[in-house]
Amino acid sequence: MKKTDNQVLVIFGASGDLTQRKLIPAVFNLYIRGFLPDCYAILGVSRTEFSDDEYRKKVVLENKYLNNTQQISEEQRQSFAKKVFYQSLDSDENQNYDYDILKDRLTKLEADVNSCDNIIFYLSTPPSLYGTIAEGLANAALNHGTSGWRRLIIEKPFGYDLASAKALNKKLLCHFTEDQIYRIDHYLGKETVQNMFVTRFANSIFEPLWNRNYIHRIEITAAESVGVEKRGGYYEGSGAMRDMVQNHLLQLLALVAMEPPVKADAESIRNEKLKVFQSLRPMSAEDIKTNVIRGQYIESTIKGKKSDGYRQEPGVDPASKTETYVAMKFFIDNWRWSDVPFYIRTGKKLPTRVSEVVVHFKPNHHHLFAHDSEISNSQNVLVLRIQPNEGILLKFSMKIPGAGFNTEQVNMDFHYDDLANVYVPEAYERLILDCMQGDATLYARGDSAEAAWEFIDPIIKAWQEDDSIPIFGYPGGTWGPEHADDLIEGKNMVWRYPCSNLTNDGNYCEL
Ligand code: BG6
Repeated sequence: MKKTDNQVLVIFGASGDLTQRKLIPAVFNLYIRGFLPDCYAILGVSRTEFSDDEYRKKVVLENKYLNNTQQISEEQRQSFAKKVFYQSLDSDENQNYDYDILKDRLTKLEADVNSCDNIIFYLSTPPSLYGTIAEGLANAALNHGTSGWRRLIIEKPFGYDLASAKALNKKLLCHFTEDQIYRIDHYLGKETVQNMFVTRFANSIFEPLWNRNYIHRIEITAAESVGVEKRGGYYEGSGAMRDMVQNHLLQLLALVAMEPPVKADAESIRNEKLKVFQSLRPMSAEDIKTNVIRGQYIESTIKGKKSDGYRQEPGVDPASKTETYVAMKFFIDNWRWSDVPFYIRTGKKLPTRVSEVVVHFKPNHHHLFAHDSEISNSQNVLVLRIQPNEGILLKFSMKIPGAGFNTEQVNMDFHYDDLANVYVPEAYERLILDCMQGDATLYARGDSAEAAWEFIDPIIKAWQEDDSIPIFGYPGGTWGPEHADDLIEGKNMVWRYPCSNLTNDGNYCEL
């Protein structure tokens, strides 16, 4: 087990939803599993007034998101709650907090818990405050320790477009060094996402085939069955492209497409991921029209129940053109992937919640057993399932017993569930622990956040500026606009239509 220094976690945005739902439960799980150092404290910070005890009650003692699946005793909750403190801070009209008060409180906390002057600042605030808080911390000399370290975790979204991401990087780097900055993308904290890296590079059977000579196409899907729920206000300024594609899906792509790094350390891995983003073929205006499909869910009936369209959601403009669905086809211009199409698809109110990477291998050059029309059904397919029913599935052809050489596709699958007694940590749990230990491998580096925006920016601009690019309505509960199937060229070739169960797809779904 790596060493974890004594430390304090300061959470800005402490009264927010993310803190309650994800951050405190993640640290609580680390506590239960014995990963917190002896001297440890959480200091929640926001403008709302709470005493320490009121805050403890809200985020620990009465927090329904705290892990209830393990046998947690009241005593454990109570003793964890004692590690949690709160400081309300006033802010001026420019949204600058009173950092002197914060500094005094941290000095006192340091003396009380003996946290060795090590502090993580977690910015879980509206993104417009990230730069301002970094600056405020620096002005109060909180960006460096006397004897300990300082780290800064920045929640997504990192920027709104290329220009704002660059401006944010610039501002952060005025006050913190790159190795102090941890840009979080919770997809990278998922065990199954990390396992893609291991599947590729720990097994000699996959890597030799992992290139243009053997791979026909790669699909990445992140489908959600829910709509935007209460987040209409945020989503209006975001849309699926900014919310999912620029970060989570491009991060998955980087892991699927990267070259083997020299070492499994943060810099080597992040160097290779950056090269993937730098090799993305920029989309021309024509490519954007033909290879990117955007959609928005419309009113529908799902399983007999009326379901609102996006434009009816609270906080959403009734004439909104914000996309809740994106499907796109693009290429990576490098030696390994030249001419291999990559497909990304994500959307809200799709039939089921599922995220997966699907690698379609090329068919045999000489078709001994299949008729041409069946070739697409006999290609080998490797599915790396991220969620739910986490696992890996390989589809391959076998002979149907009896006369002749009739073949059928069969499945070989591994499910994480089969690993009895293995605890799979929540994404935030893993990521916070990594930051506590100073490991940035699973965090996005500034240059790659910008490189990802460089690819996405022209698409968003084209959508804003060119009214002739349609936004297709799709009924909730369907797989989005049918046009998305046209992106995949080839006889009988369509997206994999997954089910929540890894091994089934298409018509055999129990959603
Ligand atoms: C978040 C997006 O980053 O990821 C949400 O803002 C989305 O809109 C969520 O629902 C999906 O995460 P997960 O882990 O549920 O796939």
